[in-house]
Amino acid sequence: MITVKKILITGGAGFIGSHVVRRFVNNYPQYEIVNLDKLTYAGNLANLTDIENKPNYRFVKEDITDAQAIDELFKTENFDAVIHLAAESHVDRSISDPTAFVMTNVIGTVNLLNAARAYWKGSYDQKRFYHVSTDEVYGALGDEGMFTETTAYDPHSPYSASKASSDHFVRAYHDTYGMDCVISNCSNNYGSHHFPEKLIPLAINNIKNNKPVPVYGKGENVRDWLWVEDHARAIDVIFHNSKAGDTYNIGGHNEWKNIDLINLLCSIMDEKLGREKGESAKLITYVTDRAGHDLRYAIDSTKLQEQLDWVPSLQFEEGLAKTVDWYLQNEDWLTNVTSGNYQSYYEQQYSHK
Ligand code: NAD
Ligand code: DAU
Repeated sequence: MITVKKILITGGAGFIGSHVVRRFVNNYPQYEIVNLDKLTYAGNLANLTDIENKPNYRFVKEDITDAQAIDELFKTENFDAVIHLAAESHVDRSISDPTAFVMTNVIGTVNLLNAARAYWKGSYDQKRFYHVSTDEVYGALGDEGMFTETTAYDPHSPYSASKASSDHFVRAYHDTYGMDCVISNCSNNYGSHHFPEKLIPLAINNIKNNKPVPVYGKGENVRDWLWVEDHARAIDVIFHNSKAGDTYNIGGHNEWKNIDLINLLCSIMDEKLGREKGESAKLITYVTDRAGHDLRYAIDSTKLQEQLDWVPSLQFEEGLAKTVDWYLQNEDWLTNVTSGNYQSYYEQQYSHK
């Protein structure tokens, strides 16, 4: 097990990052946690109000594409480890603006690797660079099979191509410079604080406001959904217990066709909002498919289960109901993130569909 004192977590103001920061700050009071985030449209310090005053937590507003600023930070802080989550994360945005994804996901990752390498000076004992990646690097499955850690990379969207590229750089720094690097590739997450550009929170918000729920194509694409806190727990376990150069797949063994998921969500929302059964499902609207839309993702997480004893903790129906409760109880959060720029994004993304 690795022993560290000070960890840089990037992207900690985003959806998954905020759950990772919260877990590390609360469970490891002996660690100093520095959360670095640019606070893009997806970054929100309101995700962290419950831990912002803890003595072992600090926030730094910085952009990982700024190599000089990242170098300076490493020179002035004694980071023992990096848990890297900062990224442009939405596939649809990558289709309209691929360059932003190259800048943050590729160049930003390389900047962090360079700064860590320069600061650690080739001595990686009790040092670690943990890169958080996605199952989308493996491309798309047909009706059968699952992604394992040895599945060949075959990314299709600019988002997944940029994540695949960053994974390759991380691996290259391990193989070339001996840096202690670890990568995990996770399936679709869901839970609280998820930005409502992604399917589940977007649908919750639209159902709540009686707006059409856009389902791409025929709704037959399949995703493997994992409770975000189970992902944060997997990152914790892998960070502490893996070997340098290891890769782990993380997934929920929980495949859902989009349309089945949306129907389940509609029935939960009917109940929570006191609507008649079937009322919310009337909002489902089939729209033009996403370009290059991957048909199916499914993760085989046997390695993680067998080697590190991790299993998902929550059934999907229960997790989805908890997620809906969180959004209904946190109207201010939802109102804040859906005002301003969100409106123009939504208009641009969905008006022509
Ligand atoms: P998110 O979009 O909610 O959060 C990303 C965070 O990164 C935001 O806080 C944003 O401000 C920050 N950021 C973006 N560009 C930055 C920059 N240039 N410098 C510093 N900070 C910057 O994303 P998420 O869904 O929480 O995903 C986090 C990570 O997990 C990503 O690397 C993503 O590829 C990966 N991942 C996500 C999922 C998922 O289902 N959401 C699944 C597997 C892997
Ligand atoms: O698999 C892991 C990936 O999961 C992460 O790496 C990404 O960061 C994360 O965004 C997510 O990617 P997806 O593209 O699978 O997630 P999204 O929520 O955008 O879409 C889920 C499915 O729902 C997908 O098949 C597209 C579809 N969809 C999405 C939106 C936004 C719709 O049908 N309608 C929509 O409005």
